[in-house]
Amino acid sequence: MFSARVPAQLGANRLAAAVAARRAAGDPIIDLTESNPTRAGLSYPTALLTPLGDSRGLRYEPQPFGLMAARQAVANDYARRGVSVAADRVVLAASTSDAYGWLFKLLADAGDEVLVPRPSYPLFDHLTRLDSVIARPYDLEYHGAWSIDVAGVEAAMTPRTRAVLLVSPNNPTGSFVKQHELDRIAALCADRGVAVIADEVFADYELMPGAGGLAARVLDRRDVLTFSLGGLSKSIGLPQVKLGWLAVAGPDGLVAAALDRLELVCDTYLTVSTPVQASAAELLTAGAQVRDEIAGRARANHTHLAARLASTPSCRALHVEGGWSAVVQVPSLESEEDLVVSLLQREGVLTHPGYFFDFARESYLVVSLLPPPEIFAEGIDRILRHFDCSIRGHE
Ligand SMILES: Cc1ncc(COP(=O)(O)O)c(C=O)c1O
Repeated sequence: MFSARVPAQLGANRLAAAVAARRAAGDPIIDLTESNPTRAGLSYPTALLTPLGDSRGLRYEPQPFGLMAARQAVANDYARRGVSVAADRVVLAASTSDAYGWLFKLLADAGDEVLVPRPSYPLFDHLTRLDSVIARPYDLEYHGAWSIDVAGVEAAMTPRTRAVLLVSPNNPTGSFVKQHELDRIAALCADRGVAVIADEVFADYELMPGAGGLAARVLDRRDVLTFSLGGLSKSIGLPQVKLGWLAVAGPDGLVAAALDRLELVCDTYLTVSTPVQASAAELLTAGAQVRDEIAGRARANHTHLAARLASTPSCRALHVEGGWSAVVQVPSLESEEDLVVSLLQREGVLTHPGYFFDFARESYLVVSLLPPPEIFAEGIDRILRHFDCSIRGHE
């Protein structure tokens, strides 16, 4: 009865079942997977959402790409980061997931392919499958820093490839796409009529000073059709407000042709609420305070992690340039799944295993940098304690 776009097996995985059991028993959890900023103990200004109640929201004027004032506010926000894009090349969406769905409809037929980074954001599996598109991985390689295996991107391309997805900085590796990597990928794509889709939701969050400034700018491209994705979820820590966007660049003729077709897609869904569009400019301005707080939190936790792991030979923090997460390489004494379940059951610490993000090898733990510092520090201490015990247990 049901389509193959939705998985046949929907049961909870072992880690989710262990979390549910621990919660049901009333046992506390130090949650180092918490990446919802509204649950991370940040101090949001209490009046931040007041503009959503403005009477401008009482009038419905459906516009496929959104109200021009809101599109202009997003263009101004790109300008804040030094990126130039015209408001008429900005398209509003309810989230980046929404924007991905529209771009897949624009670019791909059922069975066409998009290339996705590995390791990366687990939702790509669902986002592609729900639009009947096939996700083909290309690798990010680690050798003291992450880089894109550009030869691997080329090798993964087939006549059915419609887009290459870039995530900059990537979740969870925290690596920004570099200019020389984009130059080579853009050349491959331009030759084959393939688009570049760059997820830049974490672009504001730099963990290594200067890393953001060295990141490639997809909206500067004139040689290849390019989309940049962003949204309030990460840029000002308001995932519940549901405002995302995409911005388009590339050869003028292709940009115009893409926008003509996207207009029909967006007009079919009209997902963005009027109150959020009417207040976009004010939210983007006032939200800077939240962004600063999140950035400070992520940097402080990252500094703590790096210092704490510097003196532990068994575990190491991988080099990270930006974003909200960190990757810890740990001894492979058991499978990653056994490890995360055992960390939860024995130490009360919840982490994500690397395989959730499709790391090529074991063993990695992915931790969010958003929890309050004292909770983060306690969680890291418990992880290290676990390995001290485990290593002694194997001696
Ligand atoms: C790389 C990446 N893109 C997009 C999103 C989600 O953004 P949105 O809430 O706008 O759909 C996330 C959320 O974690 C993410 O990690």
